[in-house]
Amino acid sequence: MQKIKDYVEAHKERFLNELFELLRFPSVSADPQFKEGVLHTAEYVAEKLKEAGADNVEICATAGYPIVYGEKIINPSLPTILVYGHYDVQPADPLELWETPPFEPTVRDGKIYARGAADDKGQFYMHVKAFEYMVQNDQLACNVKFMIEGEEEVGSANLGIFVRENKERLKADVVVISDTSMISLETPSLETGLRGLSYVEVEVTGPNRDLHSGVYGGAVANPATILAQMIASLHDSNNHIAIPGFYDDVVELTAEERKALNEAPFDIEEYKADLGVNELWGEKGYTAIEHTGIRPTLEVNGIWGGYIGEGAKTVLPSKAYAKISMRLVPNQSSENITALFKAHFESIAPKSVTVKVKPHHGGEPVVTPTDSAAYKAAEQALQETFNKKPIPTRGGGSIPIVALFEQELKIKTVLLGFGLDSDNLHSPNEKYGIENYLKGIETIPLFHKYYAALSK
Ligand code: BES
Ligand code: MN
Ligand code: MN
Repeated sequence: MQKIKDYVEAHKERFLNELFELLRFPSVSADPQFKEGVLHTAEYVAEKLKEAGADNVEICATAGYPIVYGEKIINPSLPTILVYGHYDVQPADPLELWETPPFEPTVRDGKIYARGAADDKGQFYMHVKAFEYMVQNDQLACNVKFMIEGEEEVGSANLGIFVRENKERLKADVVVISDTSMISLETPSLETGLRGLSYVEVEVTGPNRDLHSGVYGGAVANPATILAQMIASLHDSNNHIAIPGFYDDVVELTAEERKALNEAPFDIEEYKADLGVNELWGEKGYTAIEHTGIRPTLEVNGIWGGYIGEGAKTVLPSKAYAKISMRLVPNQSSENITALFKAHFESIAPKSVTVKVKPHHGGEPVVTPTDSAAYKAAEQALQETFNKKPIPTRGGGSIPIVALFEQELKIKTVLLGFGLDSDNLHSPNEKYGIENYLKGIETIPLFHKYYAALSK
């Protein structure tokens, strides 16, 4: 399709400028300080959807941040594609590590640096621009519905309610999401699974108040030390997770499936060099591709307690804390794993302390089909723009709402992601390649075209 290439070429300055404007809104959903920024982002998204040609655009209020909805129903007998994305972003901290400010998008070396550049503003906006092209050039092959939410990065608590209450409005044949990575521009790939998530916060309490570490230290358990010991015991010497029952529901892949997975190009030396580590880590018996794709993991996201200010303070803290997340794979259940964690963590606490385990959000793992019309359409579309058949991979991240779409709407998802794992998602200096952005805009109309043809 030369036409879309020409359209992108003719409009790319504007496509970039509109994305830059979107990236300037500080839409951090986790921090109430950014409330206005999040709300303004929703307004901008709604306006842009309207301009691109969507009908019935609505900023749908929820108990949290609004969901932006828009649609174009050209012919009820054609298939309907539901585009999901999120306009909220992760906090930009630590700010001092950004080379340019997170909400002032800057191009360096062909990449757009800004919080949300790849996750997910740059990616969902490709769909808005591809849609604009299809509307302007009378190329729509399917009906399209957009649902862009503002709470993905904090667990999508209100989206579930919205989906349940809007089943008729959201009726579609497939969900397409661009919020994942591909291997590289030279090696296109399609993620065919996402991990689930159990997220907990733990609090370990020792004495009823902070103590002088000289006067009391030695006789009273230090909760920070105890917490460190408890956390260390959560992995055994083979880096298996040592929570009883943790692996019970894990589906083991067949030897052939594992072989196929490991055929994806992966340069371990390059990977280590990029991350600045001398050696990789991980559960014994599995490769790095498997560690991040098909195996469950447990990570400490943050750990604190006692004195962390300037200089030194000799104190035996009363409390220590940690935030711990577990990535889940089929068929683990987030509720079940959170319960196993809680029971285990409480059981290993020595009598010298008390522990509290507070569950945060969770989500279920998913595997998406590779034999569906939608997957094949995505494959053909990528093949055409990248001149290479995309490789199926398993993604390490989580988009909890995908399992919910299956459960509530009975619709499967295609993960048509154009980001790279090295885009610094959730990290300082997040970036998104201009080429990834423009290639994505080129690929999406092809996906619509092939999906319409293949679903006949
Ligand atoms: N877009 C990511 C998920 C992702 C990234 C999937 C890269 C595959 C590859 C999403 O915005 C995200 O960050 N999800 C969170 C979970 C959410 C409940 C906070 C995650 O994976 O930590
Ligand atoms: Mn995302
Ligand atoms: Mn994210």
